Amino acid sequence: MFCLTTATDTQWAPLVLADLPRLLADHAHCELKAASNALSLVPRLIDHPPVTQALSELAREELLHYEAVLALLQRRGWRLGPPLEDTYAVELRKAVQKLPKDPTLPAAVDRLLVAALIEARSCERFKLLIEALEASNVDAEVLALYKDLFPSEARHYVTFVDLAASCLGGDRRRVEARVELLAQEEGRIVERLAAEGDRCVVHG
Ligand SMILES: [Fe+2]
Ligand SMILES: [Fe+2]
Repeated sequence: MFCLTTATDTQWAPLVLADLPRLLADHAHCELKAASNALSLVPRLIDHPPVTQALSELAREELLHYEAVLALLQRRGWRLGPPLEDTYAVELRKAVQKLPKDPTLPAAVDRLLVAALIEARSCERFKLLIEALEASNVDAEVLALYKDLFPSEARHYVTFVDLAASCLGGDRRRVEARVELLAQEEGRIVERLAAEGDRCVVHG
């Protein structure tokens, strides 16, 4: 999907759907992290007002997602609890820092593109959840939630890529080359985590 180089393991969806309270609690935290990550980019990109406006709108939308997941948790009497360790996002940010430095590339561009990849992976995983929930027909409410969120996350991938291009004066070729490089790192992390029984929803 999009720029991803590796598909999520086929065991991932059955594994996470076997523990819905854990899946939804992790997901709620991921939406919160997505909102806070978008906001944390605003001061770094203050010289690009249209970019900061888009990030602020995106953060607001992620907060609405957080509230929707939280409301479902509360209806079921399931506890949110503290966030789980986010190995995927931590590893991804570390991998990006280790890449050869390009002094002409603003650091915020990599932050935007990492966010784009996280959205792409979330989107891929939401699709897997939708397919698995449709096939099992076990939880119509959770299925409806993922169907509702799926289009926004696909759009967020495009938004982050567009924002990175806008920070580079519209140089799409440069953005595509950088995304490709970052996507290879992301794919390696996903493969490594799958071998350890990864249960992360992503989007953080
Ligand atoms: Fe979201
Ligand atoms: Fe998103």
